[in-house]
Amino acid sequence: MSKPIVVVGSYNVGLFIKGQRLPAKGETVIGDSFYEGAGGKGSNQALCTAKMGGNVHFVGCVGNDQFGRDACALYDRMGISREFLSIDETIHSGISFIVIDAAGDNLIAVALGANNRLGPAHVDKARPLIEKAAVLACQLEGPLDTFAYALKTARGLGVTTFLDPAPARPLPEDVYRNTDIIAPNESETEVLTGVAVETLDDAAEAGRVLLSRGVRTAIVKLGARGSMYVAKNEEKHFPPAKVESVDATGAGDAFAGGLLAALAEGRPIDEAIRFGSCVAALSVTKVGVVNALPSREEAEALMARTYPVERK
Ligand code: RIB
Repeated sequence: MSKPIVVVGSYNVGLFIKGQRLPAKGETVIGDSFYEGAGGKGSNQALCTAKMGGNVHFVGCVGNDQFGRDACALYDRMGISREFLSIDETIHSGISFIVIDAAGDNLIAVALGANNRLGPAHVDKARPLIEKAAVLACQLEGPLDTFAYALKTARGLGVTTFLDPAPARPLPEDVYRNTDIIAPNESETEVLTGVAVETLDDAAEAGRVLLSRGVRTAIVKLGARGSMYVAKNEEKHFPPAKVESVDATGAGDAFAGGLLAALAEGRPIDEAIRFGSCVAALSVTKVGVVNALPSREEAEALMARTYPVERK
């Protein structure tokens, strides 16, 4: 089994309404269907990494309510250890309301609940595991101090760090310095760098800004335009795998899951980005997040079809 991957982040149950269009401010729209499923950026990334074959451990916090119990049952079904999942008796589990339109675009509102109780002590508890990890991943659905502490801890132990800066907010300098790979989408990139990402050149410029703050690698996710990879001596555009989008919720998490699993296997960054892109592409072809994740075989098959020349 490959080295551990430690994901420090959120769990939110997802309550989805799929309809024709998103409501405007103050408007009520009638949707077509309802769906409840597991979500939360951290949990999604951990579950996706596990589905892609990664040896993943999730450091998170849920409430002692039905949503939290459903999360525990899901981790048990998926074979993910609950050693570092804490249950807080005093607050509800994270909850997200998600509205999806006919094109698969969404609006999401999250009540973080128990995710806000995730603290440095939870990271310290997982330290013996972090020491042995291939990579530690964070997002920003919870206390920034905790994520900053997790990145610093991993970096100090020589472990590769990954940050999906979602939802975006201004970050302190040490977070950039302790991040090896940052992977914002277009809107997050603009919040972090001030660069509005309209063209591929904009994406490369924003990537350079992120490097100047101290990250080693920036992957600017461009949705249907693929992604832009920026490192010290290299800039490269990765075209997307083409699919029909039904629900884009969790696509960034699926990208992260594919990327993390591939990196932990020692695959080169180019290949890890392509694999992450294929996992993300397949994930948007169904409504939901965890239930929409492809199998590893499906992701590998799409990768072989999409990038036949680069595959040896
Ligand atoms: O990235 C998608 C996730 O963001 C959803 O699962 C929702 O829970 C929100 O956390």
